[in-house]
Amino acid sequence: FILVLDFGSQYTQLIARRIRELGVYSEVQPFNFPIDEIVRSKPKGIILSGGPASVYENGSPQVDVKLFELGIPVLGICYGLQLIAYNLGGEVDRFAKREYGKAILKIEKDDDLFYGLGSNTVVWMSHGDALVKAPDGFEVIGQTENSPICAIRKKDKKIYGVQFHPEVAHTEKGIDMLKNFVYKICECHGGWNAEFFIENTIKEIKDTVKDKKVICAVSGGVDSTVLAVLLNKAIGKNLIAIYIDNGLMRKNESIEVIEMFKKLGINVHYVGAGEIFLERLHGVVEPEMKRKIIGHTFVEVFEREAEKFVDVEFLAQGTLYPDVIESTSYRGPSSKIKTHHNVGGLPEKMKFKLIEPFRELFKDEVRRVGKSLGLDDEILNRHPFPGPGLAVRIIGEITHEKLEILRNADEILIEEIKKANLYDKMWQAFAVLLPVRSVGVMGDERSYEYVIALRAVTSQDGMTADWVRLPYDVLERISSRIVNEVRGVNRVVYDITTKPPATIEWE
Ligand code: XMP
Repeated sequence: FILVLDFGSQYTQLIARRIRELGVYSEVQPFNFPIDEIVRSKPKGIILSGGPASVYENGSPQVDVKLFELGIPVLGICYGLQLIAYNLGGEVDRFAKREYGKAILKIEKDDDLFYGLGSNTVVWMSHGDALVKAPDGFEVIGQTENSPICAIRKKDKKIYGVQFHPEVAHTEKGIDMLKNFVYKICECHGGWNAEFFIENTIKEIKDTVKDKKVICAVSGGVDSTVLAVLLNKAIGKNLIAIYIDNGLMRKNESIEVIEMFKKLGINVHYVGAGEIFLERLHGVVEPEMKRKIIGHTFVEVFEREAEKFVDVEFLAQGTLYPDVIESTSYRGPSSKIKTHHNVGGLPEKMKFKLIEPFRELFKDEVRRVGKSLGLDDEILNRHPFPGPGLAVRIIGEITHEKLEILRNADEILIEEIKKANLYDKMWQAFAVLLPVRSVGVMGDERSYEYVIALRAVTSQDGMTADWVRLPYDVLERISSRIVNEVRGVNRVVYDITTKPPATIEWE
């Protein structure tokens, strides 16, 4: 198996998951996992993840240099590369130009790592520090315009380092590079898979829950729907599915969700709680505060509903790995990006025990689980919708008026994207209402109204994203319909930022 040591990158679990996709078991351990444990667990290769620190910083996560003497192949990614250089006599420049997004890697030397990739390939960068001198005995095997030492190797010891992130989808041949590392350099062979996950998880849920009841928060999104179907399969009538209408859903969404569950044979209890949420959000502007309030209120309403049933001991949630990693320092030293509603918003003293079977999975892995459970593509291909809903798409204060505007604009955007057959070709599309008014002219009169920002992105897992090159005629129809049909809006703009450095949602 391949051991991934976590130095705090947002992408650490993604590396392990990519390796699992290659059919090879992979596991993440914290950066300070003891060397004797490593030796005992006999990995066939070790990957050092990226991380937000600088190798020179006091207290930055370090590696035990004995690691490089074990005779086990090592691949350092980003911070991992810098650790190799720093510990084996190279030089890292702390004040290098920061570099984010696409770059072209020029492959300088034939190497197993780059086998079959040709001479140039697109890679995805996200780093501050950079290598200025490779350690003695290392050769440079790849460079980009801004990173002349972008990939290095020490052939006899099979130690490799790359500055870019082969694990993210936007590194075009990244999966091939990992495959080369795993198969050619570490000499692993495949055999790992979604049915297996379902079988195991159902067994685990049965063992944990026994004859108690589980409340499942359904939202109509892919994650909670797949979760409810899985729970229904595992525990049947002991599942209590509740849909809380927090007043922050899209147009007609609540009715549609209840209908969908009916068709799936799951009876959902509808709880209309919109006014409580909106009251508590009154005057709140700060995004993390919004998430906290929504998270707390959500659990509170939940607990109140749960009291209506006896023997409820568990709360099941469809929390995914990216929610966990971006919200907490789960297992390692990653920076907190934002508190996702499913995770950090929950109060400490919750009455329920949590069941989160998808905590280690990514969205498309959940989709694959859903597919194996027999769910329709229409359900599985729904765009993700954040737990705090439209609250994080209305920048600034939330009011009924703004919700109405955003709902109408969002409906038009989605309608037009579906009409143009583009819905299934992207990760997510949505409208954002900005707290800015701008001047316009309507008829012969001056107008002074809100701005709607459109966002459409491609992504494989929500961790990195690129904006969709929407055809001009589609953008034109959306813009013209919004300013004509949505009262209160006189300007539409399109967001053309990648993640990183932006995030997908605006808050
Ligand atoms: P960001 O904005 O973090 O989004 O780049 C990545 C993915 O996560 C969704 N998202 C959320 N989901 N609660 C959720 O359940 C949240 O607070 C939240 N914030 C973002 C987002 O829609 C995107 O698909």
